[in-house]
Amino acid sequence: MSRALERCVSIEDLHRLAKRRLPAPMFEYLRGGAEDERALRNNCEAFSRVQLIPNTMRDVSRVDTSTHVLGSDIAMPLLLGPVGYAGMFHHEREIGAAAAADKHKTFYSLATWGSSTPEEIGVASAAPKMMQLYIPADRERAYALVDRAKAAGFTALCVTVDTPVQGSREQAWRMGMPPPARMPLSSYLSILGHPQWLFNFIKNRPIAGVSLFDHPPSPQEMMEAGPAKDLSFDDITRLRERWDGPLAIKGVLSTQDARLAVEHGATAIILSNHGGRQFDAAPAPIDLLPAVVDAVGERAEIIVDGGIRRGVDVLKAIALGATACMIGRPYVYGLAAGGQAGVERALQILKDELERNMVLMGVTRIADVDGRFLYPMRGSVDQRNPDERCG
Ligand SMILES: Cc1cc2nc3c(=O)[nH]c(=O)nc-3n(C[C@H](O)[C@H](O)[C@H](O)COP(=O)(O)O)c2cc1C
Repeated sequence: MSRALERCVSIEDLHRLAKRRLPAPMFEYLRGGAEDERALRNNCEAFSRVQLIPNTMRDVSRVDTSTHVLGSDIAMPLLLGPVGYAGMFHHEREIGAAAAADKHKTFYSLATWGSSTPEEIGVASAAPKMMQLYIPADRERAYALVDRAKAAGFTALCVTVDTPVQGSREQAWRMGMPPPARMPLSSYLSILGHPQWLFNFIKNRPIAGVSLFDHPPSPQEMMEAGPAKDLSFDDITRLRERWDGPLAIKGVLSTQDARLAVEHGATAIILSNHGGRQFDAAPAPIDLLPAVVDAVGERAEIIVDGGIRRGVDVLKAIALGATACMIGRPYVYGLAAGGQAGVERALQILKDELERNMVLMGVTRIADVDGRFLYPMRGSVDQRNPDERCG
């Protein structure tokens, strides 16, 4: 591991290192959120409003972070979420991230718009894997991807439903991201100012969409394969007929949608506002968690994502009723900072924090973390500078 990675002791450190390593437009595409970025900021701030009351004088000499989710045993209740076109952030792309997930024995999720194929990920990680689907107008294209993922050893499927249109990530757009938007001169200058990234990018030429297509897609093909605007719960029923493994619906926020998703065959809900990248008025998933847990009860697992930057955030989510958590930016900051080694660093930081905070709470198993630890009064204020609150 490089010295720079070794010096990173928090996700915020990896965020800063990623910022140095990436050209500004790529970094902005990774960091940013939609419109005024209220949802992005609130996702993180919401965690600081949840507090836990620790127990003392418990035997915490052995702590076990392992759990069971989406039909698999994993080493900690933290999954790597789907992030499209990871090849833009580091030449080791999704393969490096999946190999890091394998080392840490947790889920890796491959995005429909990934720059690696399900077959490559099947080889990179023997740990449980989830294929993320955007369902396009031509449903057969999605079904073909499901078949490929199954053959490549993917154990779970998730359908992302919060993207009938892409959120307006204005800051990234100004910088000409994502392609084929035109870049201003300042973006080109920033790219030239990162020769190492540029060299690796040109040498490896990662291609967005090779997860979905088994060839480099044309711009026309990419457009046609965008998420369908007429997606409905019946699509979930139809998918259920083809896929008998764990099926998660990602991007659900309302209790009604959560109930309907379960009635149509979902075995898990991924409570998510897409990391604040879509609907800027969306509440923080962690704030909605108790109501959604009430609505679906034992009928489905609930995975929450958005704003998790610390191991203790995972414990907060579990105390509020989540089965597990998912991260996007935190591990991709690691990827941008140092490829597979950087993702491993991100996972190690979060695992260490998880263990340390379990010890401090006086618990030894994830199953023992529940609502009894919650401090009922809400409303503490995050004192940090707003710009530092959500990397
Ligand atoms: C650069 C980037 C690309 C993403 N691409 C996808 C995607 O292709 N499909 C998807 O379902 N979610 C995608 N997401 C959302 C993540 O899966 C996840 O919901 C979100 O990042 C969680 O918030 P966090 O970044 O605060 O952890 C993306 C997120 C980022 C930051």
